[in-house]
Amino acid sequence: MAISLFPVTPDFIAEIGDIDLSRPLDPADLAAIRDAFARYAVLIFPDQHLSPEQHTGFAQHFGPLETSIGVYRADAPLRVRADLADVSNLNHNNEVWGEDSRLRMFQLGNRLWHTDSSFKHLPARASLLYARSIPPFGGHTEFADERAAYDALPPDMARRLEGLIAEHSIFTSRARLGFTNFSDTEHQALPPVPQMVVRTIPETARKSLYLASHAGRIFGLADAEGRQLIDDLVAHATERRFVHCHRWRTFDLVMWDNRCTMHRGLEFDDLRFRRDMQRATVSDIANSCEQEGVRIEAA
Ligand code: OGA
Ligand code: MN
Repeated sequence: MAISLFPVTPDFIAEIGDIDLSRPLDPADLAAIRDAFARYAVLIFPDQHLSPEQHTGFAQHFGPLETSIGVYRADAPLRVRADLADVSNLNHNNEVWGEDSRLRMFQLGNRLWHTDSSFKHLPARASLLYARSIPPFGGHTEFADERAAYDALPPDMARRLEGLIAEHSIFTSRARLGFTNFSDTEHQALPPVPQMVVRTIPETARKSLYLASHAGRIFGLADAEGRQLIDDLVAHATERRFVHCHRWRTFDLVMWDNRCTMHRGLEFDDLRFRRDMQRATVSDIANSCEQEGVRIEAA
């Protein structure tokens, strides 16, 4: 039986049904998922029952997986496999974290608009977030369509952004939250990287903004001017007309294209309820500047 596709919005979010991702995939189904992913950028697969191996196995159809940046943090052992990012509010003993936990401060960064791993030279192409348990209320995830946001830019702004390169760093997004106590080892493990402000998605030739709270300055502009431009663009890209809120159900797998979307987690009572989310993250094929044929030395 072929997959079913239910658009949630005309060209941004779709649900995919009539597929069991715990089983080997029919090549025709995989092709249909790829087509849907190119068009919508966010796909929801409800009611999937996946072991970590099945979760990462499905993700690997889209490319090699990242290693979680949790491995760079010396403060706590990992709760999940290194090829899954632990997006839960649980410590390595599987208990709800404490108010003062460093992990909690670090994860607060997910509440800021971002795209995954843009602070890595080779950023993330796709993320596949799986809900093992969810709080009874709150803890939704919002997604912003940066292709639609690009299309809606005034033409003079689109021209101004041509060829611009931003500097992304995980420490920039954490500093926005006042969280700055990182060790030298942590700093050295994740140096700042350049990324295009506008990129083209090869599968559709659509242009997209490529923004995140990780972006701190723009090469060739004064620091304050670059920061202001980034903040203005993020505000534009996250206007309600470009944003969809996903309200999780247990066993949803949600897959998004990090090249042309931003997302953020919404608040929930994280000291009271368990929220166990795990993410498989597919690497992009190259840095966004390399993909646009822009020489990084210019930055
Ligand atoms: C992520 C992320 C937000 C959330 O998994 O990359 O940012 O709502 N998640 O958990
Ligand atoms: Mn994220």
